[in-house]
Amino acid sequence: MAPERRDDPSDPSRREFLQLSGLSAVGLSAAALSWVGVACSSDFGDKIRLGVVGGNFGASFFWHEHPHCEVAAATDLRADRRQRLREKYGCDNLYDSYEALIDAQPALDAVAIFSPPADHVKHTRWAFEQGWDVISAVPACTSLEEAAELAQLVESSGRKYMMAETSHYRAGCILARNLYREGAFGEIFYTEAEYYHDRGDLDRVLTDKTTRWWEPDGSRSWRWGYPPLAYPTHALSYLVSVTGERVERVSALGWGGDHPFLTESLYQNPFWNESALMATSGGHMLRCNVFWLVAGEGERAQWSGEHAALYMPKHGLHEAVSHVRTQQPGPRQLPRYHESDMLPAPLRHPSHHGHSAVFLTAEFINALVQNRAPEIGVYDALAMTVPGLVAHESALRGGVQLEVPQFDPTHG
Ligand SMILES: NC(=O)c1ccc[n+]([C@@H]2O[C@H](COP(=O)([O-])OP(=O)(O)OC[C@H]3O[C@@H](n4cnc5c(N)ncnc54)[C@H](O)[C@@H]3O)[C@@H](O)[C@H]2O)c1
Repeated sequence: MAPERRDDPSDPSRREFLQLSGLSAVGLSAAALSWVGVACSSDFGDKIRLGVVGGNFGASFFWHEHPHCEVAAATDLRADRRQRLREKYGCDNLYDSYEALIDAQPALDAVAIFSPPADHVKHTRWAFEQGWDVISAVPACTSLEEAAELAQLVESSGRKYMMAETSHYRAGCILARNLYREGAFGEIFYTEAEYYHDRGDLDRVLTDKTTRWWEPDGSRSWRWGYPPLAYPTHALSYLVSVTGERVERVSALGWGGDHPFLTESLYQNPFWNESALMATSGGHMLRCNVFWLVAGEGERAQWSGEHAALYMPKHGLHEAVSHVRTQQPGPRQLPRYHESDMLPAPLRHPSHHGHSAVFLTAEFINALVQNRAPEIGVYDALAMTVPGLVAHESALRGGVQLEVPQFDPTHG
């Protein structure tokens, strides 16, 4: 089956991109359009047989809509979430736990791991032991020891690994990546990246046991007191996914309070909000914020380059804005990539986190079918995770600048 490709300049997503970027049609095509009418590789049957672990966020993807995927098994510890997985993916092969699923040895090619963060590396190890490829929820890991283990696991197993980082496929990030690759920015000397996820009414956090801070048995969930910069991937992706740089040094500060969310934190985290200044491998600056108590929401960035700047939309404050020296600055509409032929036809629809869920679905399955490394592989995943772990340590130590360990053999 030949790849289906549509380079039609009348296509709206393509027109918008050209309008925004000011780039030539010739220069655009390779960077912006990358799909995808894949032939099945001989390693698999007609479809990738996927197992899904975790039925909350893990039930929000579109595996069953991909022409080359079927959900062949699913598991959650909770019956209501197993039911949710059944309804979403049309899968009746359900297990009470990942452990039980492994014991049952269903015929799988890969698993999608959407368990809590502290389980991601362990659950990836179990999958590799079965010979299954992995897409894992963020963050990739929760400690430097786990980071080293994850890199080693991927290297020694030779299996495919992808981290499901949503910011990588937000339209603003795709656009920035394409512009950067086309040279429109020149050197990006400064990036401002932020993840703001407000906890809202703090009395409600304490008392409303139906919120995400609580488990059905009345215990606190893993989210209670989670250190902000230990959850950095939605912000750090805006560096790693655009220029490919790594963060080498970090200094961070935090701000907290005396709410039980902090004082009774399993993670001994005293901060609601943390802000870091980071030095990149390219000699550039990155300001990275993760805030849990903030009158605002968003996973966004702005990039300042020698020739151009791009600002992702800021909720309620401004639309996407581009400044290019040769053009009139001002608000711009972001391309509707999720409606374009970057995706298989059944996946060209809206989805959560800025329509990134359909891209994550497509990229993981495409990579397995095409027998290639997926985007957001282990080294990018660690580059989006580890600097935050070190930055949190810096904040705990009053802002001392710390070196970030590197795991990618192609960087330093
Ligand atoms: N934008 C994003 O990328 C984004 C958004 C939300 C959540 N996440 C990530 O997704 C993951 C899941 O988040 P969530 O909000 O769904 O958390 P959650 O705690 O609500 O759900 C996790 C589920 O995993 C199940 N689970 C745990 N251990 C298991 C086991 N051994 N076998 C089977 N099931 C098991 C639990 O029963 C639970 O239902 C987290 O790592 C989180 O960081 C990412």
